[in-house]
Amino acid sequence: MPRGAFIAVEGLDRSGKTTQVTNLETRFQAAGIDVKLLKFPDRTTAIGKMIDAYLRSQSELDDHAIHLLFSANRWELATTIERLLNEGTIVVCDRYAFSGVAFSAAKGLDLDWCRSPDVSLPAPDVTLFLDISPEKARERGGYGEERYEKEELQRKVRTIFSKISGEFSAEKWVTVDAGRSQEDVAADVWSFVEGFAAGVHSPLQRLWT
Ligand code: TMP
Repeated sequence: MPRGAFIAVEGLDRSGKTTQVTNLETRFQAAGIDVKLLKFPDRTTAIGKMIDAYLRSQSELDDHAIHLLFSANRWELATTIERLLNEGTIVVCDRYAFSGVAFSAAKGLDLDWCRSPDVSLPAPDVTLFLDISPEKARERGGYGEERYEKEELQRKVRTIFSKISGEFSAEKWVTVDAGRSQEDVAADVWSFVEGFAAGVHSPLQRLWT
């Protein structure tokens, strides 16, 4: 029996990421396929609550410390992800380790240091990066109130995502122009992932190999 596919959806703030992952979940379900939607940070765990307080500026943490918490938050769910995949369930993640690296490196941390706590986490079979320019994001009403929702930081994050994308093949990392209508983006996203509905025969890989 093939295992389930591991699909990560990454993107800048205001890229419509949450709409698109929910839409993906609905489409897989409609096709009768088991799918589990996960979101990072998962703010429901004890670690997630610390992250949430930090993002809402209710606490202060050293940049390295918050980076490690984001990674620990993924490790909390790593065995669950593996189990689901082995059971044949498709796992769709709203943000994953690439956000971890992009946001912390944009704040000035060393890129290789940022990768290290995530080494050997389950690696996505494909990552869809929903790309939007800060200008388009502004047209959509601008950023919210959380700590990283600032235009200058978002620009840096975008640059680092672009650098990370260069390390992957075109099948593993797909950049989607998210500045278009929801329907157009959804059609593109589906065309890239529908092939995964039948499952994956190759073994699960690990970050950052
Ligand atoms: P969210 O808006 O998707 O809930 O994400 C919250 C913020 O956390 C967002 O600005 C991106 C940031 N982030 C990190 O800095 N590191 C991480 O590892 C993850 C998953 C998100």
